[in-house]
Amino acid sequence: MKVRSQFVCQQCGASYTKWVGQCTNCQSWNSLVEQVVDTGASGGKSAIEKGRASGKKLDFVKLSSVVPSDAKARLLTEFEDLNTVLGGGILMGSVCLLAGQPGIGKSTLLMQICAEIAKGHDVLYISGEESAGQVKLRAERLGAKSERLNFAASTSGNDIAKTIEGGEFDLVIVDSIQTLAMDEISSAPGTVSQVTNCGNLIIRAAKATDTAVVIVGHVTKDGTLAGPKVLEHLVDVVLQFEGDRYGGFKTVRAVKNRFGSTNEVAIFEMLGTGLREVQNPSAALLAERTNTDGSVILATMEGNRPILVEIQALATSTNFGYPKRTASGFDLNRLNLLIAVLERRTKLKLSDKDIFINVVGGMKLNDSAADLAICMAIASAVAGRKLGEEYVVFGEVGLGGEIRSAFRADQRIAEAKKLGFLHAIGPSTVHDKFVIPAKDLRETLIRYVK
Ligand code: TYD
Ligand code: MG
Repeated sequence: MKVRSQFVCQQCGASYTKWVGQCTNCQSWNSLVEQVVDTGASGGKSAIEKGRASGKKLDFVKLSSVVPSDAKARLLTEFEDLNTVLGGGILMGSVCLLAGQPGIGKSTLLMQICAEIAKGHDVLYISGEESAGQVKLRAERLGAKSERLNFAASTSGNDIAKTIEGGEFDLVIVDSIQTLAMDEISSAPGTVSQVTNCGNLIIRAAKATDTAVVIVGHVTKDGTLAGPKVLEHLVDVVLQFEGDRYGGFKTVRAVKNRFGSTNEVAIFEMLGTGLREVQNPSAALLAERTNTDGSVILATMEGNRPILVEIQALATSTNFGYPKRTASGFDLNRLNLLIAVLERRTKLKLSDKDIFINVVGGMKLNDSAADLAICMAIASAVAGRKLGEEYVVFGEVGLGGEIRSAFRADQRIAEAKKLGFLHAIGPSTVHDKFVIPAKDLRETLIRYVK
């Protein structure tokens, strides 16, 4: 087999023998990705060139006679919410990618999972980043002492796949895919071709032997998986580990799950003894609240879970001509849009104000119903007036300054009641005595920010 690599534009598919910054075919920048092509036996024409199928007829089965894979065993972690995120535990024979920034706690989480599963199964932890000694230190700290927990240090994709093919283990952890390399490919570990091919090899071995495999993948600063997006398509489950590196809550959610819903989320905090699931995040998030101006409690949804989180806004006069807007935990474009709506629809003067938004606890909001709370926090900060302590807020704000409905209002309300709030300011479409209907942004601000 002759192996050669080529660079293929991911936008238009044009291929090059050398890497160039701009595709000369479609003019897109930075879109070339290295791919390995198997040129086939030297000389002979390939099937593609001949235009005829070279494969053999498939063996098919009656779907009615197939045993559903859900009937297969699932490996349960000690974390209940994480099991739910996984769709009921780690499925045998499934390949899961755990993606997260360096230092967020991927190795810690996986060691804890290993410790629990090794009580009843054979587990192998393969690290390409740390030595046995280092991993042992962490394992001790996390209380992993099962005899069935094994360790190997390796950076060879071939060796790891071969080991999985042996079928001795029920669960294999590969930490991390970016450190792996295959002998057949000359490029450095972490490059697209290495990651894709090592990933493929491992996945095939896992499927062949019904071994559950969890692969760690580092993500870059902007949140995308370092290396290829293709890996996300190859694996069964993609878990995203997000949050602050230091302190704060960390969330694990499935961005892809072939065996379960992608709406669930598990919330963790890092302690000296490893990660711990946070059962009641709302209470913890609100514990340090001081009711100042600019502070509003938002009833938001984190996947399928309602969470109350404090939104803080700060407004100061602009020193230099151009006002500065900063958001931590909230989309900056959305913030700019809301500021424009506020200026236009409520006559609040914001063009000479620097505005800062902070979502307390390191949470990242991804909920359109956060709009009203953000607007109220800004108005409260600018006016220097507080919102009553008894209110939670939710609702989307339209460009006309109208307040629109939010999904799962009942769950948001239930969570607010549970934590002792007396009223919610929310969309008028919700029929619940707990909710004070709000129709228009201007009216709502005049009524409550005082
Ligand atoms: P780690 O799991 O190594 O992160 P990743 O594999 O995602 O790069 O560890 C993350 C951080 O967690 C590390 O800086 C040290 C800290 N930590 C604790 O606070 N408590 C613990 O019990 C452990 C094991 C780590
Ligand atoms: Mg690690």
